[in-house]
Amino acid sequence: MTTVLDVQRFKDEGRRFAMLTAYDFLSAKILDEAGIPILLVGDSLGMVMLGHPTTLPVTMDDMLHHAKAVSRGARQALLVGDMPFMSYQASVEDALTNAGRFVQEAGMHAVKLEGGGRVVEITKRLTEIGIPVMGHLGLTPQFVHQMGGFKVQGKTDKQAARIKADARALQDAGAFSLVLEGVPSKLGAEITQELRIPTIGIGAGPGTDGQVLVFHDFLGLTTGKAPKFVKRYANLAEEISRAAGAFMDDVRTGTFPGPEHEYTTNGSVPVKDPTEVRYGA
Ligand code: KIV
Repeated sequence: MTTVLDVQRFKDEGRRFAMLTAYDFLSAKILDEAGIPILLVGDSLGMVMLGHPTTLPVTMDDMLHHAKAVSRGARQALLVGDMPFMSYQASVEDALTNAGRFVQEAGMHAVKLEGGGRVVEITKRLTEIGIPVMGHLGLTPQFVHQMGGFKVQGKTDKQAARIKADARALQDAGAFSLVLEGVPSKLGAEITQELRIPTIGIGAGPGTDGQVLVFHDFLGLTTGKAPKFVKRYANLAEEISRAAGAFMDDVRTGTFPGPEHEYTTNGSVPVKDPTEVRYGA
């Protein structure tokens, strides 16, 4: 199983690595079996799974529901639960309780928190009690209203210096890795060189130690113009639409179900385990 020590080793050995988000049992199982070393149950699920315009409405209950499904599907990957808005901001006690729920109830191995400042102290407290923390700086979606939209951060010297200072502080507080989102490539590379812990970029250029993409972006399930940092490795939205059309045609013309899909009274092979047949578990 991938551990936080392995992730540090990736950096020490100069091995770039991939992280993907996962939100359900089967996709986690597929990504895990494909060898993705880190799966993040991101609060982006509020947007891609639940249809909210931002991540702000996502609750701990939403996160735990999806995190539990992911941990049932993954065997090898390091599993990171994303702390949703207001699960850690009000008090250190809230942060400890909610991070503990991710580990104890949902089988996560680590948690991710957005921002610097007060999050530095929370990071210290969580690592002290044995819960590894992934930091997240730059374009932090839970700050969408303060940023005036989903905007690239760290473009000015002042902003860049602030992000660098937060990155160092999170490292010193015990964070095992740091997501850098929506920052200029130069800043992404500089922070990566400066830090001992690995950085994982999303819209932070090629100079970070790892790269992360959101599952639905990576597979082309999100449609329309993708943000600049997204690379689509498949076009599943088109494929699903094509399959839905083919299914409707088959049903209309009576082509489906065919003889191979029918049960007969005599000579049929008995179904051993309906779960296995239906879900390929
Ligand atoms: O919620 C999420 O999916 C994230 C990643 C984009 C890093 O925070």
